Order: sequence, then structure tokens, then C-alpha cells
Amino acid sequence: MSSPIISTENNVNRSESLLITPPTAGLTVRGTITIPGDKSISHRALMLGAIAEGETTIEGLLLGEDPRSSAECFRAMGANISELNSEQVVVRGVGLGNLQEPTDVLNAGNSGTTMRLMLGLLAAAPDRLFIVTGDNSLRSRPMSRVIKPLTQMGATIWGRNANSLAPLAVRGQQLKPNHYHSPIASAQVKSCVLLAGLMVDGQTTVTEPALSRDHSERMLQAFGAELTIDADTNSVTLTGRPKLTGQKVIVPGDISSAAFWLVAAAIVPGSELLIKNVGVNPTRTGVLEALEMMAANITRENEHIVAGEPVADLRVKYGKLKACQIAGDLIPRLIDEIPILAVAAAFAEGTTVIKDAAELRVKESDRLKVMATELGKMGVNITELADGLEIRGGNSLTGADVDSYTDHRIAMSLAIAALNSTGKTTIHRAEAASISYPNFIATLQQVLN
Ligand code: S3P
Repeated sequence: MSSPIISTENNVNRSESLLITPPTAGLTVRGTITIPGDKSISHRALMLGAIAEGETTIEGLLLGEDPRSSAECFRAMGANISELNSEQVVVRGVGLGNLQEPTDVLNAGNSGTTMRLMLGLLAAAPDRLFIVTGDNSLRSRPMSRVIKPLTQMGATIWGRNANSLAPLAVRGQQLKPNHYHSPIASAQVKSCVLLAGLMVDGQTTVTEPALSRDHSERMLQAFGAELTIDADTNSVTLTGRPKLTGQKVIVPGDISSAAFWLVAAAIVPGSELLIKNVGVNPTRTGVLEALEMMAANITRENEHIVAGEPVADLRVKYGKLKACQIAGDLIPRLIDEIPILAVAAAFAEGTTVIKDAAELRVKESDRLKVMATELGKMGVNITELADGLEIRGGNSLTGADVDSYTDHRIAMSLAIAALNSTGKTTIHRAEAASISYPNFIATLQQVLN
């Protein structure tokens, strides 16, 4: 793939560099685009389909590397999952409690969601042994956050580093009811415990300090589970041993992927984009609220509900941005968008402060450190805080040699920053984008005018 603005280069170590050289004047981001399916919903549809009775059909599944890891793991435990495509995937589930002991190691690849959610199901599968691993990044990410609540329920899990890092070995057990007070607002932790609770005789409750994405709750209910939600205390209670029946799932576009284009059009003068079919579940729209605080020109059109999830088209136009503060309960609602919001902040007048976001240090990379270092190379005045970033925006950016650190969201955020920089930017290990956005470069090519 090559054009005067964008080209890619394959390197000897099988990594790919993305080269972006914006013209000195006249570049705009324009058009109408659709974005790939929501990553969180794609994982959940595959997993619930795999453990339900009967047939689940999934329309709009994300074809990124992460959902592929989920599909492979559940195939290895007996679920019949058709070839992945975005039109229709058919999953024939094994029925609750019937996951088979796999004959080999389960590999979650780069996907924290695959590993953490799956662990809940494995820990609750009596008499079966599971060995779970992942890539270099996933093997360094904390698993104690899910091992701890599962152990309270009676799970038996061993791992490296005092049972905190993968590879992990799980000996499935009959688990006990529990009320887990999670110290962090994490949908992965909440979902792991709820999935384990499916096989418990009695009730399982999770309380979190702030509301994290609620796709598991919505989908579990759609498949037939009984859940009570207490919005005042951010608590969810699930009654064990429901009858789960296969459903038709329609996956909306991923707002975390839309975020790159929202910021691209917001920072490049003269731009206007229409992004169709974006999931706007309120537990995910923190990025829209943050961009609104920054005075970005974004409107929602055609709002409707699809298969239990709110969806809208988002129209974004260029406009001058101003700095804002991002902290507190907003953080879990935009947790994956902080790298691209840091790019928006680099173009916003004033000092943007992002706080309460220490969780970013244990994502696919240490996203606070990496964004501070890499945007710093492009001339952004950015300081790493213990739990966030301080960005003094409004200066022009200069193209530079930067690295994704194999983190998909870093690769894409840096590509968007490059669009409004002077000179060439080379993003090393840019193939990481395919974890959540296989067509990112093609769409980039499409919107640049
Ligand atoms: C996810 C939850 C979030 C998010 C991740 C996907 C999910 O992680 O960062 O990309 O699908 O549940 P945490 O729950 O660790 O915050």
C-alpha cells in the first residue's frame, strides 16, 4: 500500500512500519465511514454463544486478532464456531457447565478480555484442567485481580510470580456464592466473577467503585440469566444456574475505534466526517463527553437501539479545541480512549490534565509512559503523572520516528497525531493495529483528501 501521504514498509523482523507524510497544506479528513464491530461485545457474543444451548448468530463481529483468540479458545473446549466473518458467524454452544477439557494450552494471544473473562468459566468447570497463556504483553499483565475473587469463591489457580501472571493452570471446582467488592472499576473483573457465578448454586454479587462497561450484564440478560442491578451502589447480582439460550447478536461499531476518526476530523482544519453505526452505550461514551468539554464539534444522528445496545451515527467537524480535565468516574467510561484523547489535547489550547488513570499502566503497554515518550518525540509538551498525563497543547507537532510498543491503540493514536504534523512520521510496529482494527490503514487512506 503506497500513496504520497501514506505508505507501509515491511521490516526484516516481520514488523511493519507506517509512514505518514502530510502535505504542507490542504489535507482534510472527509467522507462517510463505517467502523469495525465492538471488541468487547464481540468477545462476549462468542463466549456466551459457546456456553449457551442452541445456536447463536453474530452479525458484525470484529475480525481483529483479539476475538480470533476467543474463538480459538472456545473451539478448543468443544464449541462449534463457524469461520469468522463480519456478515454472520454461527456458534453452536456446549450448554452451561459442559466446556470440555482442552487437549492443549489455551492461548489468549494479546487479549486481556479473553483471558480474564474465560478464567471465570474455567475456574467453575469441576474436574477439568486448563492451562492458559498469552503473548509477551499479556504474560506481563496482572491476573491477580481476577484470581483473587475467584479464589474467594473456592477456585484453584496457579500461576507465575506468586499466582499473579500467566501462564496459569486452573483446576476447575464447584464454586461458592460470593459478594466481591472490587477495588477497581473493571469490566473484565466484573464479567469474570459474573461468568463464574453462572455455575454457582446461589447468588454472586460484584460491587465496583465506579460503573464500568455493562455489555456483560446486557448480554447475560438477553441470553436468559437473572440479574439485579443496583445503580446506586454499582452492584450486580447474578442468580446461578440459569438456562442460557443462543440468541441473535448484532454487534454495533466500536466507539473506541470511532474515537480515532473523531479526533482526526477534530484536529485537521477543514475536515468533516460521518461515522455510521457507532455503539453509544452510556458506559462507553466518556470520549464524547471529554471531546465535548474540549469544544469539539460532534453531533449524534439517527439514534436507535439494536439488539439491546444503543447505536448512533456521529458527525464530526473540525473546530478549535480547548483544554479540559479528565478524571474520576469518567475514566472507566473512556479508559481505552485516553491515548487518542492525549492527541486531541496536544492540539487543544491550554493545559489538559488526565488523572485517576493509573490503570493505563497495565494495559497492552504502559500507555501513560508510552504516550508521554512518543508524543514528546513529536514535540508535544507532555508530562507523565503517577496516574495520568499533563499536556500543554496548542504548539505545532513535528513528524518523528515513533514506536507502537506493539500496542494497537498507541499505533493508531500516533498515526492520527501525524496527520497534523510537519514532515514525515514513521510508526514502527504499526501492524499492532490489527488487534482491534484490521482495516485501519485502508480507512485512513479512504478519509484523507
Ligand atoms: C474491556 C474492559 C476494559 C478495556 C478493555 C476491554 C472489556 O478493561 O480496557 O479494552 O471488554 O471488558 P478493564 O476491565 O481491565 O478496565
